[in-house]
Amino acid sequence: ADPKKTPLYKVNQDTIEFTQYQLSTSSAASIKQYLYQRGVSDEIIKLFEIGYHPEGNALYKFLHAKKHSDENLIAAGVCAVGANGIHDIFSDRIMIPIHDAYGNPVGFTARTTKQGNEAKYINTAQTSIYEKGQLIFNYHRAKAALRERKRVFLTEGAMDVIAFAKVGIHSAIATLGTACTKEQIKAMKLLRSTIIVCYDGDRAGRQATYKFGKLALANQLPFEIVDNQLGLDPDEIIAAYGKEELLKMSEKTISWVEFLFTYLSQTYNLENYSQRKEFALELAEQIALLPNEFERQSAFVRLQEITGFDMRSSVESKSAPKRFMK
Ligand code: CTP
Ligand code: MN
Ligand code: MN
Ligand code: MN
Ligand code: MN
Repeated sequence: ADPKKTPLYKVNQDTIEFTQYQLSTSSAASIKQYLYQRGVSDEIIKLFEIGYHPEGNALYKFLHAKKHSDENLIAAGVCAVGANGIHDIFSDRIMIPIHDAYGNPVGFTARTTKQGNEAKYINTAQTSIYEKGQLIFNYHRAKAALRERKRVFLTEGAMDVIAFAKVGIHSAIATLGTACTKEQIKAMKLLRSTIIVCYDGDRAGRQATYKFGKLALANQLPFEIVDNQLGLDPDEIIAAYGKEELLKMSEKTISWVEFLFTYLSQTYNLENYSQRKEFALELAEQIALLPNEFERQSAFVRLQEITGFDMRSSVESKSAPKRFMK
């Protein structure tokens, strides 16, 4: 391990402990109430090491008294220097720690409980231990939770990972935002599991699913997609319909091809000839990349039934991709 990183993990560990303590005090009663209202129990709070960062520079004072240098506080990303000197970054936010693959605390995703102009979430900025685009929230716990059913539920945010924990599924992860990188895909491959994509059911989530699928396929990562007809995210599904509904949904998955047909036919107006042609071209391009011959064959047949176009000729020059999905 890089010796320069150790003091930064310590800063984060002390931050976790400080904010956990703060959440337990009576001055954070309304924050506790907010979490309870969202169905986050004391057990879940403990499991995810959730805390509360009070208003002002209380964290700085605490960490300074613990003999952390200002440099390390800045390098860890919990403080920054402004016009009035050094100050806390996550003031008045719920703190959810983020760990690396080995379980070292490397940063935070921090939510406001207020409804105003401030950003809903602030995440740790890029530091030497918090590598944006490489980290995956809850990866270390998901890895430990994988048993005989090797299923990893991929969500957008920490509260969705927590939603899965509420129903007893501890193998959920989040990319914290929607853009998934190649490095994150590689880390997912190391879990030797099927990724079950559970992004939000809204338009942005479906769009992110499309992007994810293309990247996953190109990198031979096996995945399925949850059949989310509700337009909600996993946490909202529990809130609106209860835990059973999320459990039920976790078993209802569709294939990438199935998703492609549904998603792309919603993207194009199939009543219109030139749109129908565009649809056929975009879909054929994706069908050509499917790992199984029988999947490609039947998808081309289906595409022809919908559009009238036999698209096999448009892509047949490309070599068949390597098989990796069952
Ligand atoms: N996000 C962010 N900053 C924002 C909004 C979103 O960093 N202002 C990231 C967060 O990691 C968030 C994810 O994008 O978890 C998905 O966004 P969204 O669906 O809006 O948030 P939720 O995860 O549903 O958060 P919550 O349930 O707490 O409202
Ligand atoms: Mn820890
Ligand atoms: Mn969303
Ligand atoms: Mn959401
Ligand atoms: Mn949500």
